[in-house]
Amino acid sequence: MSRFGAEYYRRFYGRDAVHNRRQIASLASAVHSMCTWWGVAPRSMLDVGAGPGYWRDWYRNEHPRVRVFSVDMSEHACARFGHERRDITEWRPARPFDLVVCHGVLQYPDDAAATRAIDNLAAACAEVLYLEVPTTHDYDHTVDAASTDMDVHHRSARWYRARLEKHFVQAGAGLWVRRGGRVLLYELERTR
Ligand SMILES: C[S@@+](CC[C@H](N)C(=O)[O-])C[C@H]1O[C@@H](n2cnc3c(N)ncnc32)[C@H](O)[C@@H]1O
Repeated sequence: MSRFGAEYYRRFYGRDAVHNRRQIASLASAVHSMCTWWGVAPRSMLDVGAGPGYWRDWYRNEHPRVRVFSVDMSEHACARFGHERRDITEWRPARPFDLVVCHGVLQYPDDAAATRAIDNLAAACAEVLYLEVPTTHDYDHTVDAASTDMDVHHRSARWYRARLEKHFVQAGAGLWVRRGGRVLLYELERTR
């Protein structure tokens, strides 16, 4: 049976959810506003590993003119929440999206597959990536182990940065700006 079946979503999106629709609305609103401030107000958005689809739903409700596409590798999530079935470690879209969201996904594939996933996220992204993935330090010190799936790959920030920085400049707070895109950050607007 798949790891990402009904029980998985009951456990992590039930009463003690890792995050809820209201929290994602705040985050999505902030990310959309930052993109707008940078001059790249999203006209298209890809939600990778969309799970319950909170990001997708926020965009559909608040910005119905934005072209939104949500994917997940879970058969259950696709049937229940209405995504296309894609595995980001093996798939990239034919043309890139202005904004790509990958929230709580990259900790699941192993090292080789996560490396491929990062390259695919870069191919999918024209301007801005919102990425959340806990690192070893986060699992040891920051996350709430009661509401977080701990049975995942624990990797260092250095491991992720080495792969992400080939394609993106880290702006902070989960935002990564695509190299070669239209966003130009001042020196102190980026982490290095
Ligand atoms: C912790 S949930 C995150 C869901 C959603 N992004 C959120 O933040 O609420 C992880 C999701 O990633 C999906 N996933 C894991 N590996 C994936 C892969 N290689 N490609 C696409 N989706 C994947 C799972 O099926 C699951 O729905």
